[in-house]
Formats: sequence, structure tokens, C-alpha cells
Amino acid sequence: MRASLLLSALSVSSVMAAPVLPEINANSVHADSLKQVSDYFNLLAVKVQQSKFENAVPTCDLSKVVMPQAPSFGLTLKHVALGRGTQNYTCDLSNATALPVANGAVASLFNASCIVAAYPDIGAMLSPVSMNFNLSNLASIAQSLPPSFLKQTLAPTSGMAVSGAHYFTNSTTPFFNMDASAWKIGEAPCAKNNSTPAPEAAAKGQKGEKAVPWLKLVTRPGATGGLQEVYRVETAGGSAPETCKGMPAEFEVQYAAQYWFYGN
Ligand SMILES: *[C@@H]1O[C@H](CO)[C@@H](O)[C@H](O)[C@H]1NC(C)=O
Ligand SMILES: *[C@@H]1O[C@H](CO)[C@@H](O)[C@H](O)[C@H]1NC(C)=O
Ligand SMILES: *[C@@H]1O[C@H](CO)[C@@H](O)[C@H](O)[C@H]1NC(C)=O
Ligand SMILES: *[C@@H]1O[C@H](CO)[C@@H](O)[C@H](O)[C@H]1NC(C)=O
Ligand SMILES: *[C@@H]1O[C@H](CO)[C@@H](O)[C@H](O)[C@H]1NC(C)=O
Ligand SMILES: *[C@@H]1O[C@H](CO)[C@@H](O)[C@H](O)[C@H]1NC(C)=O
Repeated sequence: MRASLLLSALSVSSVMAAPVLPEINANSVHADSLKQVSDYFNLLAVKVQQSKFENAVPTCDLSKVVMPQAPSFGLTLKHVALGRGTQNYTCDLSNATALPVANGAVASLFNASCIVAAYPDIGAMLSPVSMNFNLSNLASIAQSLPPSFLKQTLAPTSGMAVSGAHYFTNSTTPFFNMDASAWKIGEAPCAKNNSTPAPEAAAKGQKGEKAVPWLKLVTRPGATGGLQEVYRVETAGGSAPETCKGMPAEFEVQYAAQYWFYGN
């Protein structure tokens, strides 16, 4: 079912190549930040474990979470994911005044539901902290998420598990595949509904790139799991340079963001 849905979503467009999903390459982290970041994620894992023993139900209750952006009336929060990947851009090298054009994105999604529910202050730090890690590509992934992808972790000993993958099925369809993980949250082909510049204070990227805008996405027909709206918030990095000067025809900019999934 999942594979066939996904295949049909992909077959409508041959313009976008099959996605190559990123994985976190812990070896690429600077030695001095590795310990700091590992400690940080270990602390999160410990806190989430503690909350399970002490008072699990209320602290991980998504209905009590303060939402960064209110969804449409009647929708409930289904999942919060930390997305870590790249925004892709193209530049028309034959045009001296061309501007970078967005060309999709690809990101790994990590389950952040309990963290934002129990520790909103820590939740707000997830995107900037995850920018400390570089990505490496899993070259052979085609239309479905292999078991190895689901075993991926955000830091060497992180408590955050993969909840899915984000990529584009055509130039206007950001897609979220979140059916392969333990939580089976659903699949969501989306369309952009609204865009708001990230706050001035939002974290910059690894080379000082501005944070990409916050977005409201609405699901297209074919979404499963009752998913209806997806909000991209708490962004870090990911923006293209102002002009194409000195840029290649195709390039990637590292980014992180939280994706909030709502449905009924
Ligand atoms: C990530 O990789 C880029 C080169 O692709 C390098 O310039 C940068 O320092 C790396 N960042 C980290 C945190 O390892
Ligand atoms: C993972 O996501 C699901 C669905 O949002 C949630 O019920 C579960 O508590 C999450 N687990 C963690 C550890 O965040
Ligand atoms: C070159 O790029 C500029 C800026 O995007 C655009 O306005 C212009 O139409 C382009 N020229 C050609 C010949 O494509
Ligand atoms: C992209 O895919 C969506 C969903 O299948 C479709 O509605 C839309 O027309 C497609 N757009 C382009 C530019 O191919
Ligand atoms: C955004 O979504 C609302 C419904 O949620 C719809 O009424 C509106 O037309 C959409 N706007 C755009 C620009 O897609
Ligand atoms: C852009 O994204 C695709 C996945 O859709 C990836 O395969 C590709 O390597 C990325 N980078 C560039 C520079 O095109």
C-alpha cells in the first residue's frame, strides 16, 4: 500500500529524480562540538526516559503542547518532527543577473513529539543544535525507506528515532513519508499555502545562511493518517545567497526545521 501510493505519487512527475535521503554523518562533526552535542542529546534522552517513569502521560501529551502556529479550527496535533537535510537550488549560468531558484529539499525526520511536549524550551533549541552535524548521502535509496534508514539516529547515542523522510515528488509537491516508522503517522503530499519570514533571531546555517521562511502546507488528495496541515517552523539555515554570483548550476544549503503535523 505504502509503496504503491508512493510510486504513484512519484510517477506523476519524472522531472524530479528519485530522492537520495541524507543521513547524519557523525564523523563530520567538529571534534570539539561532538561532545557538547552528544551530551545535549543524551540529556534529552534521559529526560524523556525519566518522564516515562515519573508521569509519562501528561508530559508527553500532544494536546497540551503550545503550538508555534495555530492550525485550522478542529485539527489536532499528530506529530512533531525535527527535519535535518538540505534545501536545493539552481542557478541559470547563462544569465549574469539570474537569481537562485528553489529546487526542492530533502531531509530526514526525527521524532520530537515528546521533547516539545515535555520540554518546550529544549524543543526550541533542536534546530540550531542539529546544525552542528553534517550530512552524508545514502546513495542507493530509491522509492521506499530501507530498514537501515529507520535505524539512523541524530547523534551517535541520541534518543531521537527516525519518524520519516521529507522530499519533493515534483516542483510544487513537498512530500512527507512517515509510514515506515514504528508510529505510522501517515503520508502527506502537500502544497504550499502560506509563507512567513523566519524571525530575525532565527539560527543561521553553517556558512551564515539566513533561516528559510516558516511555512504552512496543506495536504493534497492522497494523504493518509488523517493528515491535513503541516507547519514548518523553528527553521535554521537553508536560504540561498542573494544572487547566483560564483554559484554552480545546482547546489544545496544545509538546513534544519521543525515540522508540525495536524489532522483529525
Ligand atoms: C560541513 O561540511 C562543510 C563542507 O562541505 C564544511 O565546510 C563544514 O565545516 C562542515 N561542518 C561541520 C560542522 O562539520
Ligand atoms: C513519537 O511520535 C508519536 C506520534 O507523534 C508520539 O506518540 C510518541 O510519543 C513520540 N515518541 C517520542 C519519544 O517522542
Ligand atoms: C535573468 O535573470 C533575471 C533575474 O531572475 C530575470 O529577470 C531575467 O529575465 C533573466 N534573463 C533571461 C534572459 O532569462
Ligand atoms: C505536482 O503533483 C501534484 C500532485 O500530484 C499535481 O497536482 C500537480 O499538478 C503537479 N505539478 C506539476 C508542476 O507537475
Ligand atoms: C490556504 O488554505 C485555506 C484553507 O486552509 C484556503 O482557504 C486558502 O485558499 C489557501 N490559500 C492558498 C494561497 O493556497
Ligand atoms: C538535491 O536533491 C536531490 C534529492 O531530491 C538530491 O539527489 C541531489 O543530490 C540534491 N543536490 C543537488 C545539488 O542537486
